This record gives sequence, structure tokens and C-alpha cells, in this order.
Amino acid sequence: MIAKRIEEIANIIDLNNKGVFDIGSDHGYLLILLRNKNTSIKLKGVENKVGPFKHLKDNVSSLNIDVSLSDGIDDLNDEYSCIVLAGMGYKNIVEIISRHLDKLKYIDQIVIDSHTNIDLCREFFINLNFYIDDEIILKENGIYYEIISFKKGNKKYSEKEIHYGPILLKEKNIVFKEKYFERNKKIDEIMSKIGDKNSNKYISLIEEKRMNDEVIS
Ligand SMILES: C[S@@+](CC[C@H](N)C(=O)[O-])C[C@H]1O[C@@H](n2cnc3c(N)ncnc32)[C@H](O)[C@@H]1O
Repeated sequence: MIAKRIEEIANIIDLNNKGVFDIGSDHGYLLILLRNKNTSIKLKGVENKVGPFKHLKDNVSSLNIDVSLSDGIDDLNDEYSCIVLAGMGYKNIVEIISRHLDKLKYIDQIVIDSHTNIDLCREFFINLNFYIDDEIILKENGIYYEIISFKKGNKKYSEKEIHYGPILLKEKNIVFKEKYFERNKKIDEIMSKIGDKNSNKYISLIEEKRMNDEVIS
């Protein structure tokens, strides 16, 4: 069964794009889903490791999907206007994009599902003149995921919007509230173990909890 996370990534991708370039495709599940939704859109999956690349190649070989054993966006060209970076951390995402900033001229949509530093990811792409066009939060197997779609253009955001996500913050749906409710329970646990109530750590946790309480109330 295809993960709900992958289905949501597929849902957020605009199928009017020229082509979709999936970086770190692994087994190619996202590309297979996209091909099922749209028979003609150009699709390419890249993997920089031989093992996952073999799985990718085998799984998509009959579906008119290009594959390449290459790094990040080294192979990206103007046939693709959407890039996907899913199931990776912030550092890797920044490294992949920063190596070829010039290639962003081809790109209208960037979809990310970062497993770390989501706020820094928002900041990174906003500084590259992309705005947040859509956001999805979901919980699967006990893990919260935030999927963000950026489109080309400029918008200004507050620090709070960068932290929580402007669209997620506006919607404040049940999964969003649950995420920060759980985080606050975790903060209580951590604070109870900190002896020094004047330490920077303790003070920053109080502030984080106050902000979370404010957005989920
Ligand atoms: C955890 S998997 C995520 C797979 C899939 N995108 C998903 O969301 O389920 C990350 C994949 O990205 C690949 N990867 C990491 N860095 C990469 C890079 N610079 N270029 C291409 N692939 C990369 C890894 O080999 C791995 O298969």
C-alpha cells in the first residue's frame, strides 16, 4: 500500500507542470502514482545511490518515466518545471539546491517534505524568491509530516508564519493542534528534568510552550 504521505505529495503537485523531477525517488512510488494520475506528463526520477537506483529503474521501466543515477539537480534541464525533495533533511535539501541556483530559472513549483528544520526550509526557499502556495500536515505511523509547495514569486511572512507555516497556521486543523499539544507535553517532561530554572534552555522552552499554547488555543 502506498503511504498516505506519498499520496499527499502527489496531490499537491500541479499536473499542469511541464515535467516533474523527483530527487531521491528511492522505489519510485511517487512517480508511479503521478503516472497513474496523468499519462502524458514528463517524469524523471534521480537517485545518487546504486541500490535505490536499481529498484527505481526496475519499478518504473514500463511506465515511460526517465531515470538517472546522478546527484540532486545535476541532470535538471528546462523540460521540467517542478522539483520534488521528499524524505530528506534540511541540510541535504539546501546542498542540492545551492549547487545549481541558476537552474531555478526553469522551476515554477518546488515540493518538499523535509524531516528536519521545516522552518529553516521555508526561510531558505522564500529567500530564493518562492512563496508558500500550499501546505499539508499529516500523521502517519506516529510521525508528523509537513508537505510544502512553493511557487515562484514573493510574499512577506512573519516569524510565526515561518515557524508554523502560514497556511497551516490559518487552518489550524486537528492534526496541527495535536502536533503542538503533544510537543507541549514533551516540553513539560523535559522541563521537569531541568534543575536550573534560570538556564537558557529552560527559559526558551517556556517561550516555546507559550507560543504553542497561543496557536492551539
Ligand atoms: C529516505 S529516502 C526518501 C524516498 C522518497 N523520496 C520518499 O519520500 O519516500 C531518500 C532518498 O534520497 C536519495 N538521495 C539522497 N540525497 C540525494 C542526492 N543528492 N541526489 C539524489 N538522491 C539522493 C537517497 O538515496 C534515498 O533513496
